[in-house]
Amino acid sequence: MSATLINFAYLVASVLFILGLKGLTHPRTAVRGNLLGALGMLLAIVATLVDQRILSGEYILLGVVVGALVGMVLAVKIPLTSMPELVAVFNGLGGGASALVAGAALIEAQAPSYQFTAATAASGIIGAVTFWGSIVAFLKLMEVLKGLVRFPGQQFCNGVLVLGSVGLGAWLVLGEPDAFWAMVGVASLLGLLLVLPIGGADMPVVIALLNSCSGLAAAATGFVLDNNVLIVAGSLVGASGLILTQIMCRAMNRSLGNVFFGGVGAEVASGTSDDEVYAGKIKSTSAEEVALLFDTARRVVVVPGYGMAVAQAQHAVRDLANLLEERGVEVEYAIHPVAGRMPGHMNVLLAEAEVPYDKLVEMDRINPTFQQTDVALIIGANDVVNPLARDADSGPIAGMPILDVDNARTVVVIKRSLSPGFAGLPNPLFAAENALMFFGSAKEAVLDLVAAVKESG
Ligand code: TAP
Repeated sequence: MSATLINFAYLVASVLFILGLKGLTHPRTAVRGNLLGALGMLLAIVATLVDQRILSGEYILLGVVVGALVGMVLAVKIPLTSMPELVAVFNGLGGGASALVAGAALIEAQAPSYQFTAATAASGIIGAVTFWGSIVAFLKLMEVLKGLVRFPGQQFCNGVLVLGSVGLGAWLVLGEPDAFWAMVGVASLLGLLLVLPIGGADMPVVIALLNSCSGLAAAATGFVLDNNVLIVAGSLVGASGLILTQIMCRAMNRSLGNVFFGGVGAEVASGTSDDEVYAGKIKSTSAEEVALLFDTARRVVVVPGYGMAVAQAQHAVRDLANLLEERGVEVEYAIHPVAGRMPGHMNVLLAEAEVPYDKLVEMDRINPTFQQTDVALIIGANDVVNPLARDADSGPIAGMPILDVDNARTVVVIKRSLSPGFAGLPNPLFAAENALMFFGSAKEAVLDLVAAVKESG
């Protein structure tokens, strides 16, 4: 097929990617956006396969079949709560593949140009950092790797590795192809050391940044292979990942430098042991008692978190909200940008339960309304309502903006125990004067609440 026709197909695929991304900006258009993106990818793959430069199709076909099978099994099997782990693996594989493809192209190249070797160096460095950084992120999210690996002079060591990989990259550009694999080795070590000291609430930012890096590595490989659609798609992933990183940093009140080098994710600040925070201060409640609170309430704000996702309680939550609304109570949902385990996690779950979008209120808009809220009903959320984020000077969530639920008249917390959330911290909210703990798994607890509200009249 002629190069013009291939490039035209790539152009159409790129437009489909952009329309797909645009669709993903709103829950109402997200499914269509996803389909448009997938269609663009199909077109890009078909165009690449019929390109004259493909000499033999069997291995590619085998790869497509195996890849599609693995992808389908993962899509069906992986629960929504493990999405960040899956995304971490995808990022890593994308980065690793880019580096390997660039390396293979280098082996085959006869008299490579400066553009070619510079792109190969960029792909090798970014791809290797992304691969190893993502592997560490994956193991941390799976809780296989626990704790934060720190040693004196770590930042100096990272600086040396950056200079080392860039130096070897420069040597490659100057005409020494053997420098490529040494460069990839040094960049791999850098990827490991950059992510090992990070943990706690900063992991989502790291995943978003690695996502962006996987896109940049792909774009660089696009220059190596002279493939336009790879350049466009890689740049789109790179840019959107960077925007997401920035949004999350802002949501957590951190700069990117602070996430990577600020010692964030340090162990729990002293003076915040469970006993000191909770001893003698926890008041538990029952479904009947909470139903009585609802009886006199005019405004209830539901605060969903990771526990609601694990328990799949969103449908029960919607039923409870409908019931309260029938009785004239105003119900809204407070959405924290990093509630759950992936960006937009709560929005996705509540949309699935057909909660109207206008009832989901972002943190900045809902915070001033807690003072006029009778009951803040926390369902499996912990870190995103932890006042330590406001009060502690250091620790995994210090400085992260939270939902100010403690300003509500009464706070009811549904969770199974006093166990900490993702960041591993005790939560002084549970011991607050106006807080009541309703212990139980989210779905059963909310169903009990529905029954109690129905019974109360
Ligand atoms: P978390 O702080 O992780 O707390 C979740 C709470 O849910 C736990 O304390 C747990 O307590 C409870 N829970 C678990 N299973 C439950 C069940 N079946 N029923 C009722 N409760 C249950 O959640 P969050 O407030 O949503 O905060 C999210 C955290 O994850 C933040 O630190 C955030 O930075 C981090 N993170 C976010 C993302 C993104 S992008 N959203 C990605 C990775 C990490 P019990 O065990 O006592 O029930």
